[in-house]
Formats: sequence, structure tokens, C-alpha cells
Amino acid sequence: MTKNTSSDFSKKSKQCNPIEPFLGVLGFILAICLLAGGFFYLEYRTVLRPGVPLFGISGAPSASPLEDYEVKAAIDTATAATTVNTNGRPGFLDKGGESCDIYDGNWVWDDDYPLYQSHDCPFVDNGFRCLENGRPDSYYTKWRWQPNACDLPRFNATLMLEKLRNRRLAFIGDSIGRNQWESMLCMLAAAVPNKDSIYEVNGSPITKHKGFLSFKFEDYNCTVEYYRSPFLVVQGTSPKGSPKGVNVTLKLDVVTWSHQQWRDADVLVFNTGHWWSYQKTINHGCYFQEGSEVKMDMDLETAFHKAIETLVHFVTNRVDPNRTQVLLRTYAPVHFRGGTWKTGGHCHQLKLPDFGPLPNKTERLVDLVTDVLSNHPQGFKMIQMMNITPMTYRRQDGHTSLYHFGPGSGPGPLNRQDCSHWCLPGVPDSWNELVYALFLQRESSRSSSSAENSETPL
Ligand SMILES: *[C@@H]1O[C@H](CO)[C@@H](O)[C@H](O)[C@H]1NC(C)=O
Ligand SMILES: *[C@@H]1O[C@H](CO)[C@@H](O)[C@H](O)[C@H]1NC(C)=O
Ligand SMILES: *[C@@H]1O[C@H](CO)[C@@H](O)[C@H](O)[C@H]1NC(C)=O
Ligand SMILES: *[C@@H]1O[C@H](CO)[C@@H](O)[C@H](O)[C@H]1NC(C)=O
Ligand SMILES: *[C@@H]1O[C@H](CO)[C@@H](O)[C@H](O)[C@H]1NC(C)=O
Repeated sequence: MTKNTSSDFSKKSKQCNPIEPFLGVLGFILAICLLAGGFFYLEYRTVLRPGVPLFGISGAPSASPLEDYEVKAAIDTATAATTVNTNGRPGFLDKGGESCDIYDGNWVWDDDYPLYQSHDCPFVDNGFRCLENGRPDSYYTKWRWQPNACDLPRFNATLMLEKLRNRRLAFIGDSIGRNQWESMLCMLAAAVPNKDSIYEVNGSPITKHKGFLSFKFEDYNCTVEYYRSPFLVVQGTSPKGSPKGVNVTLKLDVVTWSHQQWRDADVLVFNTGHWWSYQKTINHGCYFQEGSEVKMDMDLETAFHKAIETLVHFVTNRVDPNRTQVLLRTYAPVHFRGGTWKTGGHCHQLKLPDFGPLPNKTERLVDLVTDVLSNHPQGFKMIQMMNITPMTYRRQDGHTSLYHFGPGSGPGPLNRQDCSHWCLPGVPDSWNELVYALFLQRESSRSSSSAENSETPL
């Protein structure tokens, strides 16, 4: 069983690689970071004081992993640096907090984390159970996301479940979306003493990579659902008479068929990105289609842009804005060093987040989403883009790396690392805390607008 899952997993992780042209840019930036990191590293040993940028410290000589005392010193420094200016920040849900950019902030050490342990949560894929799979350090479970301009509400699973009573929360996307969905299941399940009261509605086990899974929290009559759809549009057989070499097509103008099931959910969390690569499409004989026409020359960026447009059109025309909150989570960066997923790239020595300023570039996939939404006022109003890309860019330490082969199998071979998926507990929990904050914000605006409505004289 374990074997099965783990090989499934490594297959999946291999398929997840970013759009090739961007790799070069990323590599270049990483190289610069490494170089800069080397200098800062030396600097930092001598001038260890709050406020010293730690940029690149974890990227320092990749040949020698940091010693434990070095990691601890870095954590102390980061903690000191991030605890200045903690006064006077409004709560995100309080007056003055609503305009806060929750994606702009820092990772801060927090002894109250993680929010759950994987061994207490039956809903985690073996591939994400890093500590059980032999990962020796657990620092990566201790970082909380702290926006600069406001405080996030502390995650309260009971409150979230109460607000989700008789409702549905659905995640639609690729395996990183599944990663996030499992994180949410665990975060919520932590407040439910009787885990048997949480079950898959069709009795499917979580370890099988089904296209659709729905977990019911019986006491709350709510479901937390996952729909596998790596491209968010339909992938299917190519039209008759297609050119040779065209095996399947992505129908860029047709939203994924599972829409029939998730359309009426109360909260939708979409993601896509990792599959928009040459390897996963053209190289495979998978071309892009519009109407009945296969577009042999269409490039990935154009195709991605069109797929997002299709999603936005669907949501604005077919999803009820009064009922459903729609979140579109942006691309979660990968952190392969010294190669790619297929050439022995690694991340297993990275034990710390990157605390420095972000590289002065934006992720192309994020720009494309922004572009679609800013050209579509209705979509912009209805879809909340969760730009977790920059914050996640800093979490090189959170990947499953060698520890995705299942409990008992120990670390995997050095040249088969997963630097795409995330350990649980871990980074996806922080994305879900943002989901939580946005969800509560909408709940409070809903209740205040319905209160206003009821106050208006008849
Ligand atoms: C979490 O929410 C529940 C339900 O609203 C509430 O009773 C409880 O006090 C909250 N817990 C914390 C720690 O705030
Ligand atoms: C349970 O929740 C579903 C929506 O997820 C709703 O349609 C149904 O009416 C709820 N059942 C009860 C008994 O409230
Ligand atoms: C298309 O499919 C055929 C049969 O399944 C396979 O042999 C071929 O390699 C595929 N082409 C590409 C480009 O992947
Ligand atoms: C949403 O609610 C508002 C106010 O109750 C109503 O005017 C509007 O028609 C509703 N929209 C849809 C799509 O149901
Ligand atoms: C970063 O980009 C901004 C806006 O494009 C530019 O004004 C700034 O000079 C850049 N900073 C560096 C260090 O390149």
C-alpha cells in the first residue's frame, strides 16, 4: 500500500514543473541569491543583530547543510527582527484592517505552531507526512505568516466549522491544490474529537488519487471537497482529422466538467499553474484547442491566459455571487536547486525560510492572472485573487524533498526529490489561514449587509 502511494507520488511530483522558459530566469535569480547569500552569511556571523537581512542565509553553500546551532541562531535573529513594530497593527477583520494587503509580510517564528500534527490527522497523504517519513528537522512547522499592516485572525477551527454548517467548501486544481485541501481537512479536524464523524461521502480512501473526494464533517453537515483539474479547462480527445502527433487537446474555452458538481458550493478555491509546461502538454502530444480548431502554434502563456479567461467567464456567468465566495490561489513556487525535477535538483538541505527582500521580478503566471482580472471588471469584483506566490517563494524549507516515500520507508534517493509539494503540517496551512481570514471577512460583510437590510423600514 505504502509502496503504491509513494510511487504514485513521485510520478506526480515529476510532472509538476514550472513553465520551462521561466526556469532559466529563476535559476539566474537563485544564482544571484546564492552569491549575495554568501556575503550576507559572513556578514551575519559577525554582526548578529536584529534587522540584519538574512537574505540567502539558507541558500549559503549548498554543499554543507547548516548546523543546528546555526539554524537556531538564524531563527533568533529572525524573531528579533520581526518582533519590532508589533504594536498598533489593526486586526484584518477590525476597522482599519480591511484594506490591509495580507500578502505583504514576513514569516515569524511562533511556538504555538503547528496547528496539528500529521500523526493525529488521518487525512494526509503519506507523501506529505514528512516527519513520519524521516525528516529530521521540524523548524518548518513553526513559521506563521504575519502581514505587515495588520494581524490575521488566529485560526479557530470550531468557528470555521460553525460558519460552514450546512455548506460546502471546494478546492479545484492540481496536486498542490490537493495538498492545500488536505491541510484544510486537518486544520478543521483538529477541533473534532471524534474523527470517525468525518468521512469520505463515497467511502473512498484518501490515498487513492481520485479525481473527486468529498469529506463530510457530520456534526456540522458540511463537506470539504477536492476536484482534480490541473488545467481548470477540459482535457480530452482531439477532434477528428487533427494533425499527426496530436493525441489530446486542452479545450481552452470549456471549463472543467466537474463544474456541475462544484458550481453551487459556498466557497470555491481554485488553483492552476504547475501543469502549464511544455513537458506536460506539447511534448506529450497535448495541444491547445479553441472551438473545433487545434491551434498548433499557440504558446503556453497564451493558452494559460485563455484558460483563466474561460474560468472567469464561467464564474461570472454561472456562479451565484450571493451564495458563493470565489478564491483563485496563485502559483506556488518550486525550489529545485542544482537542477530540475528530472536532473537531480534538490532542496533537502534547506531548513530556513528566506527572510530577505524579494527578488525584483514578478511571476509571469501571476501577471497573467492579474491581467485577465483587471480586464474583466465583473471577474475582478467576484474573484479574490490570493497572491500567495511571493510569500511562498520564501519557503524553500517547506518541501517534502526526500521525505515523500511514506512512513517507514525513510528518506528517498538524493536524485529523486520533490521540491514542488509541501510537508504537512506546513506552508499550505498558512495559505488556509488566509482563506480563513477572507472567509470570515466575507461572512461579516454578509451579516452586516443583511442586518442593514433588515433595519431598513418596510
Ligand atoms: C473558537 O470559536 C468558538 C465558537 O465560536 C468559541 O466558542 C471559542 O471560544 C473560540 N476559541 C478561541 C480560542 O477563541
Ligand atoms: C446539509 O447541507 C447541505 C448542503 O451542503 C444542504 O443541502 C442540506 O439541506 C443540509 N441538511 C440539513 C439537514 O440541513
Ligand atoms: C501519442 O499517443 C500514442 C499512443 O498512445 C503514443 O505512442 C505516442 O507516443 C503519443 N505521442 C506523443 C507525442 O506523446
Ligand atoms: C443578490 O442579492 C441582491 C440583494 O439581495 C439581489 O438584488 C441580487 O439580485 C442577487 N443576485 C443574484 C445573482 O441572485
Ligand atoms: C525594482 O523594480 C522597480 C519597479 O520596476 C524599480 O523602480 C526598482 O528600481 C527596481 N529595484 C532594483 C533593485 O532593481
